[in-house]
Amino acid sequence: MPKDLEALLKEERIFKPTKDIVEKSNITQWMNKYKIKNYDELLKKANDNPDWFWDDLAKELEWFEPYKNVLKWDPPHAEWFLEGKFNIAHNALDRHIKNGKGDKIAYIWEGEDGKTRKITYHQLWCDVNKFANALRELGIGKGDTVSIYLPMIPELPVAMLACAKIGAVHSVVFSGFWAKAFQERVNDSKSKVAITTDGFTRRGKLIPLKENVDDILQNTPTIKNLIVINNAGIDVKMHEGRDLWWHEITENMSEECETEVMDSEDPLFILYTSGTTGKPKGVVHVHGGYAVGIYTTLKFVFDLNEDDIWWCAADIGWITGHSYIVYAPLLLGVTSIIFEGTPDYPDPGRLWKIVEGYKVNVFYTAPTTIRMFMKYGPKWPQKYDLSSIRLLGSVGEPINPEAWVWYYKYIGREKCPIMDTWWQTETGMHLITPLPISPLKPGSAVMPFPTVQADILDDMGRSLTEKGGHLVIKTPWPSMLRTIYRNPQRYIKTYWSAFKNMYLSGDVARKDSDGYFWIQGREDDVLSVAGHRIGTAEVESALVSYECVAEAAVVGKPDEIKGEEIAAFVILKDNFKPTQELKDTLKYHVRVEIGPVATPKYISFVDDLPKTRSGKIMRRVIKAKVKGEDVGDTSTLANPEAVDGLDRAL
Ligand code: WTA
Repeated sequence: MPKDLEALLKEERIFKPTKDIVEKSNITQWMNKYKIKNYDELLKKANDNPDWFWDDLAKELEWFEPYKNVLKWDPPHAEWFLEGKFNIAHNALDRHIKNGKGDKIAYIWEGEDGKTRKITYHQLWCDVNKFANALRELGIGKGDTVSIYLPMIPELPVAMLACAKIGAVHSVVFSGFWAKAFQERVNDSKSKVAITTDGFTRRGKLIPLKENVDDILQNTPTIKNLIVINNAGIDVKMHEGRDLWWHEITENMSEECETEVMDSEDPLFILYTSGTTGKPKGVVHVHGGYAVGIYTTLKFVFDLNEDDIWWCAADIGWITGHSYIVYAPLLLGVTSIIFEGTPDYPDPGRLWKIVEGYKVNVFYTAPTTIRMFMKYGPKWPQKYDLSSIRLLGSVGEPINPEAWVWYYKYIGREKCPIMDTWWQTETGMHLITPLPISPLKPGSAVMPFPTVQADILDDMGRSLTEKGGHLVIKTPWPSMLRTIYRNPQRYIKTYWSAFKNMYLSGDVARKDSDGYFWIQGREDDVLSVAGHRIGTAEVESALVSYECVAEAAVVGKPDEIKGEEIAAFVILKDNFKPTQELKDTLKYHVRVEIGPVATPKYISFVDDLPKTRSGKIMRRVIKAKVKGEDVGDTSTLANPEAVDGLDRAL
């Protein structure tokens, strides 16, 4: 390894973006407008006057009626752009059509099998309008919820934008979840319509989505219609009076559709995320503030220009895809890639071939993907011309300095700054992140975005430097979640109860003496498997729902590539034998209940689990065992002998 890269690994070296990158960047142009000289001054000025900052950027979008105030902050409730009339779909599509940009390509879609489609803004607008009209015809309007369960096909953004256009609230469920998880989310959101497809292929294997959905729809009383996209050409059974083909209901619809005028604070979507209990939380985002937050961060963090080709290689089923594949790039009017397949199928050159083929300028992925490519070796990216890339991004979990340096060297050719963006489903937009003008330290997400104030606190609420603690946010931001759907108490309890008027992120982090933030991971019972948030409680309740399981405890086991793998400890009911076959059955059961992402890699049968005297499972002890660490103080255990049982099981 060259000497300068070795130095980078020590985390002491600071990587400075080149003069060219700094000068040309959107953030520098913006700073020049206000005669702001440097990064420090930018942060100071924006933090002193957040309303001024956000007002300036909100004005770059189009409002049907202007807002009266930028912010009303009544902790823990924030309202942004009060009394403004707005619609995100108008800004993502109608505005560009009106401004004569209809011929520009909005999405370049590439299917798993290599098929491609280029979709212009005009085409997307027409498709959205037709589907929005079809939804209206089914009686869907402002405030109704629509559940969407689709793979990465072009109809997914079309369906989301169509909902937004008519003021309906979408709830997208990741297609890698199994239908049971979909059922739970449909029922919580009380959706009237569900949208799915006959099926799709994943690594060449056919997944019959509609057939799986049929199994659960008798348990979703609010659903009146299921709209089915003919994607894989599977011969599916259509349920009379309930099921409708997408192509049939849109066929004769007008290509024009009136956009619903919404309030800034009207809900745009619900997105479910794992929490500390078994029940996923429906995070609610709104039209106005959400749009301004994601528009601004994509513009300033990823520095997109008119002619850039942007590729956020995430799934639209997660927040990263909602914010930075669907909405923000369209708000900016750029061209994005949507890739249906997996990064190493049919071979590990797949992503780099796409970068070369479409001359991608800015590329955003997760550390787990980078670590997977490190394993395959540099020969794969080296086969392709990656010189079009100007800027890189990382999201989803801490990026270890080794992976940072590999990414910098082999994908960024030692020229491209890496934007390590920390944020969450709840935050909607990047909150702690570098800008292209920030000096970087490999492994650090650098500093809070302008106007955002973050801190690290100990249990007593004292601010810490150079020590791990609770990562909190002290100021509201436009795209913050407004509530948990139909559960306002849970919103307050989860995020606003630990420290007065501060948002508790649930992450542990450290702030160094230069003010740089280093995210360490989740502090609650949430796992991060290949960057996906999975609640231990969700997996445990899936296991316990299997007839022979008496009790289960789930913890994360460190994994070189995925960050964590799921390890489950299971107590069987009497009369059931602990066999390998049963382990496989249980893995399959969790897969069917939640989805492939939540399948435990390891299952161990035990007679007992370490518990406190009040009967709570001590996951800390199990976790220490799994990691091979000292279990620490076990004096509060009601059954210390259970710890020996864990030893035997491992
Ligand atoms: C983790 C994904 C370290 C973190 C956008 C957070 C990160 C959770 C980073 C949210 C990062 C996200 N560095 N950790 N750059 N970005 N995380 O809701 O633990 O799927 O709380 O949103 O991912 O996951 P979510």
